[in-house]
Amino acid sequence: METVQKKGCRILVVDDNPENIRLTGTILRDNGFLVSIASDGNQALKIMQRNLPDLILLDIIMPEMDGFETCKRLKDNPVTKDIPIIFMSALIETVDKVKGFNAGGVDYLTKPADPEEMLARINTHLTMKFLYRKLEEINKNLEETVRVRTIELIQKNKLLSEEIDQRKEAEEALRKSKDDLSITLNSIGDAVVAVDAEGNVTMMNPVAEKLMGVTFTIAEGKPLKDVFDIVNATRESLENPLEKVMKGEKRASISIDTTLVSKDGKEYLIADSCAPIRNPEEKIVGAVLVFRDITEKHRLEEQLRQAQKMESIGQLAGGIAHDFNNLLAGIFGYSQALSRKLKDNDALREYSDGITDTAKRAADLIRKLMAFSRKGKLVSIITNVNNSIKEVAAILERSIDKRIKLNLDLNAENPVVMGDPSLLQNAILNLGINARDAMPEGGKLTIATKNTVMRREDCQNSSFDLKPGSYIEIVVSDTGIGMGAETQRHIFEPFFTTKQIGQGTGLGLASVYGTVKAHYGAITVYSNLGDGATFNLYLPMAEKPPAGEVLIAEDAIVRGSGCVLLVDDERVIRTTGCELLEGLGYEVLLASNGMEALRVLKDNIDKIDLVILDMVMPEMNGRDCFHEIRKIDPDAKVLISSGFTQFHELNGLFSEGLRGYIRKPFTVSELSKAVDSAMKGFFSVLKLRESNDIGTCKAKEGTTTSMFQI
Ligand SMILES: Nc1ncnc2c1ncn2[C@@H]1O[C@H](COP(=O)(O)OP(=O)(O)OP(=O)(O)O)[C@@H](O)[C@H]1O
Ligand SMILES: [Mg+2]
Repeated sequence: METVQKKGCRILVVDDNPENIRLTGTILRDNGFLVSIASDGNQALKIMQRNLPDLILLDIIMPEMDGFETCKRLKDNPVTKDIPIIFMSALIETVDKVKGFNAGGVDYLTKPADPEEMLARINTHLTMKFLYRKLEEINKNLEETVRVRTIELIQKNKLLSEEIDQRKEAEEALRKSKDDLSITLNSIGDAVVAVDAEGNVTMMNPVAEKLMGVTFTIAEGKPLKDVFDIVNATRESLENPLEKVMKGEKRASISIDTTLVSKDGKEYLIADSCAPIRNPEEKIVGAVLVFRDITEKHRLEEQLRQAQKMESIGQLAGGIAHDFNNLLAGIFGYSQALSRKLKDNDALREYSDGITDTAKRAADLIRKLMAFSRKGKLVSIITNVNNSIKEVAAILERSIDKRIKLNLDLNAENPVVMGDPSLLQNAILNLGINARDAMPEGGKLTIATKNTVMRREDCQNSSFDLKPGSYIEIVVSDTGIGMGAETQRHIFEPFFTTKQIGQGTGLGLASVYGTVKAHYGAITVYSNLGDGATFNLYLPMAEKPPAGEVLIAEDAIVRGSGCVLLVDDERVIRTTGCELLEGLGYEVLLASNGMEALRVLKDNIDKIDLVILDMVMPEMNGRDCFHEIRKIDPDAKVLISSGFTQFHELNGLFSEGLRGYIRKPFTVSELSKAVDSAMKGFFSVLKLRESNDIGTCKAKEGTTTSMFQI
C-alpha cells in the first residue's frame, strides 16, 4: 500500500475547552502534525477561509454553534466538503454518534480519547483521504484518457467510414465499368476472346461462343488452340495469331481466306487481330483476340466482282460481235447472191452452199455472243414458258442418249413471261445439252417450273438486277459429273469450256446468262464434283394473260413487188442487199448515207414503197434520217436494219410509224418476210418493255408474219 506522509499535515482542533485544546494540540504536534485551533464553530469556519486543514477534530457541545451544525456547514461548502471530520465528544450515546455520522463526520471519538487511538484514527482517515484523492486523480486521468481516446476513436471512425464510403464508391465504379464492359462486349458484333499468359481462355463474348461453337463454360481455362481451329484456303492448319503475340509481336492478324472451323462443324471466313495484354510493369499477362465473320461480306464482294467481270466481258464481246456481224453480213449476202446466179447443177454450188452454211454457223456463234452481251435485243411478247420447255423437251428426246431419262415437272400455274421465246428455248436447250454432256453414262435430267415470289431481301442478296415481285422459276437439274467451285466461277464467261477442242465453244451458258439478264431475271448454279448440277432460272412473270398465240415464222421465202430504197453506209450490204431484194422481185434504189437517201426519196417520192434504213451511220443516223423521211412523206414505210440495236434505241420510233426492224445478218427468208410485212402494213407497233405495256405481233388472220427482231 502506498505510504502517506502524514507528518506536516494540518489538523484543526475545534473545542471550547482550552484544556482539551492544549492537550490534543500537544499530542498532535509531538507526532509531527501542524495544528490550528478554534474555540467554537464560527471561528472554525473563519479559519477555513485562510488555511484549509487536512483533517478536523470537532467537539460537539459548544456555545452558539454546536459541532453538528458546524459539520453540516462545512459539508455544504464545496471548498471544505472533502475535509474529513472526526467528532470528539463526551457524549457516548449511540444516537449522538449516529447523528455525527449523519451530519457528515467520518469518525467519532469519545472523550477522553486515548492518544494512541486518536492518532491511529487520524492516520487512517488521512490515508483514506490521500488515497481518495489519488483515486480521484486516477479517475480524472482515466476520464481524460477515455475522452482523448474517444475523440481519437471518433476521428478514426470517421476516417474509416470515409474510407469505407470511398471503397464502396470505387467498388461501385468498378462494378459499373465491369457491367459497361460486359454490356459492350456482349453487344458488339465482333467476337472477343481473352486468354491468360499461358494461352488459356479467360473470357469469351456471345459472338465468340457462336462462331467458335462452344460455350464459355466449356472453353474456360482451356488452351485457345483447343477451341479455335483455323485453316487456310487449302485446308492447312494455320498458326494461331495468339502465339505470335505471346512471343512479343505487338499485334498479329491472320491472312485473308482464313476459315474458322467451329466446334459444331460450321465454317466461317474470318478476319481478326490479336494484341497482348500488359500489366503496369509492361509484362505480357495475356492477350485479346478479336475476330469477325466476313463470310457474307466476302460473298457480296465476290458477287460484285463477278458481276463487274461479266459486265466488262459483255462489253468486249458485244464490240467484237458487232464488227463480226457486219463482216458476216457481207459474206452471207455475197454467198447467197452467188447461189442465186448459179444453176442448180453448177459444180460451184457446193462451194457457195458451203460458204453460206459456214457463215450461218458463224452467225449462230455471233448471235450467242450477242445474246450474252445483251446486244441485239429480242422481241418481247407474251411467252408461255411451260410450252417452250415442252418444245425443247421434244427436241431433246430426239437427240439425247436413251440412257438419260428426261422428266418434266411443270408446276408453274401461271407460266407466262414477257420475252423472246426463241432465246428462252435456246437457253433451256443449252442447259439440257450441257446436262446431256455431263451424263455420258446416262442419268436423270429434270426440267421443272414453279411460280415463286422474290422478296426485297432476295433481290438485294442477288448479284442480278431483280425487282421484288412474282417470278417463274425454271429448274434444270441433272445427275451428272457436276462441277467444282473453280469451274463454277467461270461457267458463264464466253468461251469458257472444259470440253475438248471442237466439242464445245463455251458460249452456251454465256448466251443463257445474257438471255436471263435481258429478261430481267437471274440464274444460279448449285453443284458439287460428282454430284450433278442444278441451274435455277428466275424470270419475272408477265402481268397480263397471253393475248393470243404468236406464230413463229416458217423458213419460207415470200416474194413481192414494188420499189425499195436501201440505205446503208457499208458497200457490201448495199451490194448484197440489192442482189437479194431484186431476187425477191423488188426494184431497188440505193443510198450510202442519210442525205443521199433524202435526195433519192424526194426524186422518187411516188415510186418508193419502202425504205430499209441502217441504224448506225456516220453524220445522220437511222433515227434522224427516219424523222427527215417522215417530214418529206408522213406515210413513208420504213424498216430499220441493224445488227446492234437495243429496244430503248427504237423507243418512240414505232409509235411514230416505224414498220419494223430486221437484225443483220439476215437470211433471204427473213429479209423477204420483213419486207413483205412492212409493205403490207401487217406489222403493228411492238410496245417496248420499258413502257411496261404488253405488246403482241398482230398477224392478219390466215397469214404468217415474221418474228421481228428488236
Ligand atoms: N450440267 C453441267 N454439269 C457439269 N458441268 C457443266 C454443266 N453445264 C455446264 N458445265 C460446265 O460449264 C462449261 C461451260 O458450259 P457452256 O455451255 O458455256 O459451254 P460448253 O458446253 O462447254 O460449250 P458449248 O455450249 O458452247 O457447246 C462446260 O464446259 C462445263 O465444264
Ligand atoms: Mg454448252
